[in-house]
Amino acid sequence: MTPPVPVLVDCDTGVDDAMALLYLLARDDIDVVGITTVFGNNTAAQCAHNTLRVLELVGRRDIPVAVGAERPLVGEVTYLATHVHGNDGLGDSGLPMEVSTAVSDLSAVELIDRLSFEHAGRLRILAVAPLTNIARALETIPDLTDRIVDIVIMGGAADVAGNQSPAAEANIIHDPEAAQLVISAAWPTTLVPLDVTMVEVLTERHRSMLIAADTPVSRFVAATTDFYFERYGMDSYGVRCSPCHDAVAAAVLTGEVVPSVFPVIDVQVDCTDGPGRGATICDTRGRYRGFPSMPEGNCRVALVTDGTFPDLLIAALGA
Ligand code: BDR
Ligand code: CA
Repeated sequence: MTPPVPVLVDCDTGVDDAMALLYLLARDDIDVVGITTVFGNNTAAQCAHNTLRVLELVGRRDIPVAVGAERPLVGEVTYLATHVHGNDGLGDSGLPMEVSTAVSDLSAVELIDRLSFEHAGRLRILAVAPLTNIARALETIPDLTDRIVDIVIMGGAADVAGNQSPAAEANIIHDPEAAQLVISAAWPTTLVPLDVTMVEVLTERHRSMLIAADTPVSRFVAATTDFYFERYGMDSYGVRCSPCHDAVAAAVLTGEVVPSVFPVIDVQVDCTDGPGRGATICDTRGRYRGFPSMPEGNCRVALVTDGTFPDLLIAALGA
C-alpha cells in the first residue's frame, strides 16, 4: 500500500477552510501533518482556535496547529472577513468553543521548518489564506523550495472579477507582496482561482442532505453553511447558496478535481497602490490556440471545472 501523502495546510479557518480540512481529514491517501494559521477571515489566533475546534470535532487532537502572521508583509490589515464567516469565523454555528488542546509552542514558520525538514521531498502544501506565512517561511528557510513537492493555492481571479475588489480576490489582496513572492518562488505552483471556485456551488439540496445524514460533521457543516448561504450566497448569487473555495483547492491537490483547462502560464500579482492592487495578472492569451506550452510560465492555473465537486464534497463529509 502507498503511504499517505504528508500535507501541511496553511489557512484562516473559516467556513470553507473548515470544509477543506474536513475533506482532507476524511481521506486515507492524505496525512495532514500540520496546520498553520494566518490573519484573513479572522485573526490568526482566532483562526488557530477555530482549527482546534474543527480538529476536536473529528478527534484529531494529534495534529499540531501553529499561529502565524497577524499582519501582511507590507502595511496593516485592512479588514477581517467576519461579515462572511461570522463573528467567530466559523459561521457562528454553535460549534463548542472549548477545546482540550492548545496551539503549538512553535510559530507557523517554525512548524513549516520542522515539518518540511522531517518530510523533505514528500511534503505538499495547501495554502488557502493570505500567503504571509509561506512568504515568511521562504525568507527564513533558504532551501524550503527544495524540501517541498509543490504548493496548491486557493486565490486570485484569472479571467473573472475579483471578490474583494473588482480586480482582486480576498486571499491575494490581503497580502499582494507575499503572494508575488510565493507564486514566483522556484517550486511547482498551482493556483485555484475564483474562475473555478465560484462555479462549484453548494445549494439547499446539499444542506438538506447534510442535515439528513445527521452526523456530528454533517450537522456542523450544515450549521456553518447556513450563515455562509445567507451572507455570501445572497451577496454573490442573489440566492441562498455558497461556494466552497478552499475545499475545491484541496480537491485539486488530491486529484479528485481535475480542471479541464489547466495550463501552465505566467502569473504576476499587482503590487501597486492603484485599483488593481492584489489582482493576479494571468497570461491567458494562449486560450484561442489551446494554450500552447509556455516554458516561462510560473504557475499551473485551474481555469475550468464542471461544477460537480459539491456532490463529492458532501459525500466525503458523510452525506
Ligand atoms: C478565500 O477568502 C476566504 O474568505 C476564504 O476562506 C477563501 O480562502 C475566497 O476568496
Ligand atoms: Ca481561507
